Amino acid sequence: MPYKVLVIPGDGIGPEVVEAALHVINAAAAKYGVDLEIKIAEAGDVALRKYGVAMPPETLKLADSADVIFKGPIGESAYDVTSLIRMRYVLYANIRPVKNLPGVPVVKEIDCVFVRENVEDVYVGAEYKIGDVAIALKVITGVGTRRVARVARRYAEMRKRKVTIVHKANVLRVVDGFFRDVALEELRGLEVDQMYVDAAAMELVRNPLRFDVVLTTNQYGDILTDLAAQVAGGIGLAPSGNIGDTKAMFEPVHGAAFDIAGKGIANPIATILSAAMMFEWIGRGDVAQAIRRAVEISLEKNIKTPDIGGRNTTIEVGKFIASAI
Ligand code: IPM
Ligand code: MN
Repeated sequence: MPYKVLVIPGDGIGPEVVEAALHVINAAAAKYGVDLEIKIAEAGDVALRKYGVAMPPETLKLADSADVIFKGPIGESAYDVTSLIRMRYVLYANIRPVKNLPGVPVVKEIDCVFVRENVEDVYVGAEYKIGDVAIALKVITGVGTRRVARVARRYAEMRKRKVTIVHKANVLRVVDGFFRDVALEELRGLEVDQMYVDAAAMELVRNPLRFDVVLTTNQYGDILTDLAAQVAGGIGLAPSGNIGDTKAMFEPVHGAAFDIAGKGIANPIATILSAAMMFEWIGRGDVAQAIRRAVEISLEKNIKTPDIGGRNTTIEVGKFIASAI
């Protein structure tokens, strides 16, 4: 039985970086004998303009029947599409590894993995405006915290057995306090420390190597992972995996970058490394390793886009990495 992969190219630089990544995915699948059934569907601003809805029913149907979703960045309608997919399939853990790469100017050395809660917090979209007052609900549940903490535990067990819980329980005593307490309980037996999110932002710049696995709530994770990606060398290199119990979605951390769309200069590496995470998730760690190695070879050989000091186009980088597998 083939793995059913639904590809959503997205907006802005999305189609370019996804096309580059598809070269790599197809080359890796052919070489390593992974049976993939790839379908491509529209969602995002493109779909909104064409059909009046960011997530057309046909795309949703394909997503329902897919084993895994591979998605480019989305523009104005990013929340509608991305959150819908995360919530609908309960992709409750957002895994964001952050690591320096060869041939990329290092801001600071860093090697950690963020485990970001992915379906709760203020991202549930419960916002209200009553006259002169606007309110958003921050939702944290025990169930939601336990299951994402268990993912952090799994990563910690594969790494240094060390987890930092990031929260703001000095202000959000009840809500963030609950997240911290449930997480602490779930992580018993590991080396666990905790940090307020503001201090964590500072430490990620000052001494990033002190972090190994970082477990945090949705919004703090959203913000800190952009920061951490830039510390590692650039947002164009940062992959992510949205993981649930039966389904997953892989996508770059960055956005649609309309300012550089269509120019062929977007860095496809974040998307290509997200593809590596996808192979890992379907049980093909060997293929993931081969892709990561091919990415390193391209960087070592200076086949790179301008954001990291190269002169190559998006597709050239994608094709080179595909050929280096
Ligand atoms: C991300 C993105 C999304 C988020 C947006 C597009 C909804 O910024 O994946 O980090 O905030 O989660
Ligand atoms: Mn984000």
